[in-house]
Amino acid sequence: MPHYEPWSEERAQAVIGEFVHLEGPLMPMLHAVQETFGYVPDAVVPMLAERLNVSRAEVHGVVTFYHDFRHEPAGQHVLKLCRAEACQAAGGDALAAHAEHKLGCKLGETTADGRVTVEPIYCLGLCATAPSAMLDGRIVARLNERRLDALISEAQS
Ligand code: FES
Repeated sequence: MPHYEPWSEERAQAVIGEFVHLEGPLMPMLHAVQETFGYVPDAVVPMLAERLNVSRAEVHGVVTFYHDFRHEPAGQHVLKLCRAEACQAAGGDALAAHAEHKLGCKLGETTADGRVTVEPIYCLGLCATAPSAMLDGRIVARLNERRLDALISEAQS
């Protein structure tokens, strides 16, 4: 289960500061911010712009371009369902609809009780054993409705 820290500007500055020496530090900084807080808060955009001497629009553009970056805090558990081609062809659409129905929220959202965030992901590298999913970083292949139900129960418990 991911443990995210509560938002703190001071902590964010420290996290960002670890990457300033890199060539092309924006993406590593954004990933580190998300790994620390569970999402990329809007407040980080001006901080990054200032550190990197680029415009806020530029930073904002990168944050919104990549599906990987969350704009709101994640739930206690993050369930990612692969929505790329091989998994779709293996019944991924029906599984995604099943998950949305069971959780009562759409892909990209968090359940009302804050327990589970369900997100699309685009290929987990397990196309041969599609459909695939990932719960809190643990990859699951050969997903079917029964296995998905088990993952959802685990995430909700
Ligand atoms: S398409 Fe789903 S794992 Fe590759």
